[in-house]
Amino acid sequence: MQDLMEQLSQDLHAATTADQVEQIRIAYLGRKGTITTLAKNTDFSTLSPEEKKEFGQKLNDLKNRATTEINKAMESAKRSLLTKRKTREIDLTAPGNDRRLGTLHPITMTQMEIEDIFEGMGFSVLAGPEVESEYFCFEALNIPSDHPARDMQDTFWLKNNLVLRTHTSANQVRTLKRFGAPVRAIFPGRCFRYEAVDPSHENTFYQCEGLVVDENISVANLIAVMKTILSEVFRRDVKVRLRPGFFPFVEPGFELDLNCLLCGGKGCPTCGDGWIELIPCGLIHPEVLRHGGIDPEKYSGFAFGIGLTRLAMMKYGIRDIRYLNAGDLRFNEQFLPIF
Ligand code: DAH
Repeated sequence: MQDLMEQLSQDLHAATTADQVEQIRIAYLGRKGTITTLAKNTDFSTLSPEEKKEFGQKLNDLKNRATTEINKAMESAKRSLLTKRKTREIDLTAPGNDRRLGTLHPITMTQMEIEDIFEGMGFSVLAGPEVESEYFCFEALNIPSDHPARDMQDTFWLKNNLVLRTHTSANQVRTLKRFGAPVRAIFPGRCFRYEAVDPSHENTFYQCEGLVVDENISVANLIAVMKTILSEVFRRDVKVRLRPGFFPFVEPGFELDLNCLLCGGKGCPTCGDGWIELIPCGLIHPEVLRHGGIDPEKYSGFAFGIGLTRLAMMKYGIRDIRYLNAGDLRFNEQFLPIF
């Protein structure tokens, strides 16, 4: 039995992992282990009662000592594994984890900047649904049923006559109904059109709509606000032109075009003829005010729809609209947040 104990000590000494120690435990104390089977392999008939008793005691003693040794070896094998792990954790020579800092998307940055400017002029910033009813998207805006915007070719129609809103103007009558007059608000957001995609057209893009309704609002107020916005956004002199434009929900309606900052007005794939239609606008049509529950005899107002995506392209010199939705981090990471 003494030999067995020595053999066990030697085996445990050579073991370096918890697995190896477990194998040794099985070899000695398992069901078919050397110690477990010791009693079975002994011929008790040759032993006197005293000898039997002594054998039993020695066997018990052996089992206890073997168990203690094995447990000790098991603990130290586990401890050395832990130490190894800890050492690895503080290995200063190991390469670090690459944690990439995100950046804001150029459209997000432009939107945040526009919101700041309008908030400074007392406008509220609102949001409306992207899935919109035909009523708010078209009917309430005086857009007749034979207008091309109502056609399947231009608009994503959903079930139950719902649409993906084709413009943020859809939020105009919602805002009038909710806040009444006087009101000053902008509502930036995503719009959708069933478009063939090219460098200047996307099926998904951003606008920032806004309106002011109060007593005695005129085209002069509209032009003053637009001028302030443009000078704050570009912080330099930019060339603009105002020309008549037709939209069923404004009367009179205008197109405020920006001389293209990408080509200096010479003409390029982004602008075409040197001018970018940046802010269509006008005085709100009396019919639209009525839909909003506002008396056109008492109140008037102006509305505008800034092409937020186009504005971001001009501001950051982006020549192809398709980069904006492509999700390519190499593109997105080029633009540093402005704050
Ligand atoms: N909703 C129009 C569009 O997407 C743009 C627009 C025109 C908005 C005139 C307005 C406006 O607020 O007054 O084409």
